[in-house]
Amino acid sequence: MRPAGLTLLKVNVDHVATVREARRGAEPDPVEAALAAERAGASGITLHLRQDRRHVQERDLAALREAVSTEINLEMAVLPEMMRMAERYRPEQVTLVPERREEITTEGGLEVQGARGLEEFVSALHARRIVVSLFVDAEDTEIDASAAAGADAVEFHTGRYANASGAAVAAELDRLARGARRAAEAGLRVFAGHGLNYANVAAVASLPEVEELNIGHAIVSRALAVGFEAAVGEMLACLGGPPAR
Ligand code: PXP
Repeated sequence: MRPAGLTLLKVNVDHVATVREARRGAEPDPVEAALAAERAGASGITLHLRQDRRHVQERDLAALREAVSTEINLEMAVLPEMMRMAERYRPEQVTLVPERREEITTEGGLEVQGARGLEEFVSALHARRIVVSLFVDAEDTEIDASAAAGADAVEFHTGRYANASGAAVAAELDRLARGARRAAEAGLRVFAGHGLNYANVAAVASLPEVEELNIGHAIVSRALAVGFEAAVGEMLACLGGPPAR
């Protein structure tokens, strides 16, 4: 568990690449955004290399691997092609995510329970000294199955919390809190992400088991108004400030 009052932030730069791909050009550059995030105090850079390469390209992963001095968290599907990417670029962390080609973004957690070959995939990543996190819904069966698959961590999909309104907000937060306790008891580290923004992040960050948050869309959006470094700084302020280096 993290020290009290300190939740780490990894900044997802996918949507910097989304804007670039709108013109198939060279700007904006995810590396420039990553370096600004690190200057602001982010603990790492997250990117999702999708099969359809709709935003991040392999060359981005190569360039980020060269430039990033904190950590790279590579989100990827459970596929042989992606294992080759992990072998080639050696991210410090891999987050295994589901991928459906027609989705706008990652719309649900992995289905860990009953997933064939997942345990072997996790141990192949471990053999390369990569920390493995599974992006799951905060459901007991998925948490228990993640521990059984040998994962180091779970990242809870916070989309339902982020989209909730009224009394459902507290109910969703409670679901995340109960899931976080269960995951920690099972020996898993607990991360969270998806749909978190400047207004809703503090409640998730205050859950004592939650070590790390992965946030992209809200930061990239805010950066249009204040710049990338300031947008990351403002998010870190919501989490209680950047970690001491
Ligand atoms: N974590 C995971 C596993 C994701 O797939 C995403 C979306 O790419 C995020 C976190 C970040 O979500 P958002 O862009 O809504 O902050």
